[in-house]
Amino acid sequence: MGVPGRLIMMMMPITPKFVVHWVAKRYVAGPDLDSAIKVMRAMKSQGACFTLDVLGEEITSLAEAEFFVNEYHRALDAIVAEGMDANISLKPTAFGLLIDEEKAIENIEHITRIAAKNDIFVRLDMEDNRVTQSTIDIVTEMHERGHRNIGTVLQSRLFRTSDDIAHLSSKLGGNSDVRICKGIYLEPEDIAHTGYHEIVAATNQTVDELLDAGSYTAIATHDIPVINYSLTSLAERGMGPGIEDPRSNAGQARKGKGPGYEFQMLLGVRGNIRRKLSAQGHRTRVYIPYGGRWYEYSMRRLRENPDVAWHVAKSIIMPWTNRR
Ligand code: FDA
Repeated sequence: MGVPGRLIMMMMPITPKFVVHWVAKRYVAGPDLDSAIKVMRAMKSQGACFTLDVLGEEITSLAEAEFFVNEYHRALDAIVAEGMDANISLKPTAFGLLIDEEKAIENIEHITRIAAKNDIFVRLDMEDNRVTQSTIDIVTEMHERGHRNIGTVLQSRLFRTSDDIAHLSSKLGGNSDVRICKGIYLEPEDIAHTGYHEIVAATNQTVDELLDAGSYTAIATHDIPVINYSLTSLAERGMGPGIEDPRSNAGQARKGKGPGYEFQMLLGVRGNIRRKLSAQGHRTRVYIPYGGRWYEYSMRRLRENPDVAWHVAKSIIMPWTNRR
């Protein structure tokens, strides 16, 4: 991050909330489920499907988990009522993972069961390295209990990720379903790549590993070199729009899934590239965060990854770029 980015970071705590709101509104659907539904309705014609995410993480008392359980239940009901091609993503620490692991598992299983009734997929977002192993363990535990509609996210910046891919595919076979992303959390250099080029190389490698392992591969990136690399990797494996997943160990086609892979992007980021991929026939998914905690979410993202400061600066200097 350059000097301008550092300056913006320093100024964020004293920036009026309405300014942060103005910047955040591009990336967050709104304060409630209704706003998320409106965004999905408006974007449906762009050929995308969706992931709903209720903003919030790392609760401090188990009572707070109840809010998330109820809100995700409402979100699942809305997906069904609206007939949306959508699934959900949740953060295990919002369900109590750092307070009481057993209770968190109970909460997550409850939501996974409700989702399964409508064949809706549940993805556990991946948080920082304190919970990498326990998040993976919850997914394998859920599969052992017979829930097939659950998967997680792996972060290519972590050195451990290739082993995690191998572990998940050996445990779950073709039922492994992984979102691969660079990872938003700036992890220490003894466990993670820290340079851009190393992270891109690791992302490309892990996309290949997931494809070769027969996992459903959700490629979550806005980075053109990674997208282009992935398109080549898919083509080399005979995968692409309108082609059935040719891999022998790929799981049964599940409702709302593409031919073994999809591209995922965040609401408000590089919609032009997403629409282009969609027009080419690739399955694309937009991640839609919503909820009252948009301020905390925006500030936390900024603290975790100061590169976001550049996007904030851009929105202020070039306000016309601050569009979804
Ligand atoms: P990179 O950061 O290099 O961005 C490439 C380009 O995209 C930038 O140059 C810029 O033009 C644009 N861009 C990226 N972010 C932008 C922004 N905020 N505003 C405007 N433009 C932006 N991480 C994690 O740790 N756990 C998780 O569970 C998830 N889940 C997740 C879901 C989905 C659908 C996505 C797309 C991403 C995540 N991530 C995540 C975040 C991910 O790890 C990563 O931090 C971001 O996607 C940014 O990395 P890129 O690969 O996009 O590259």
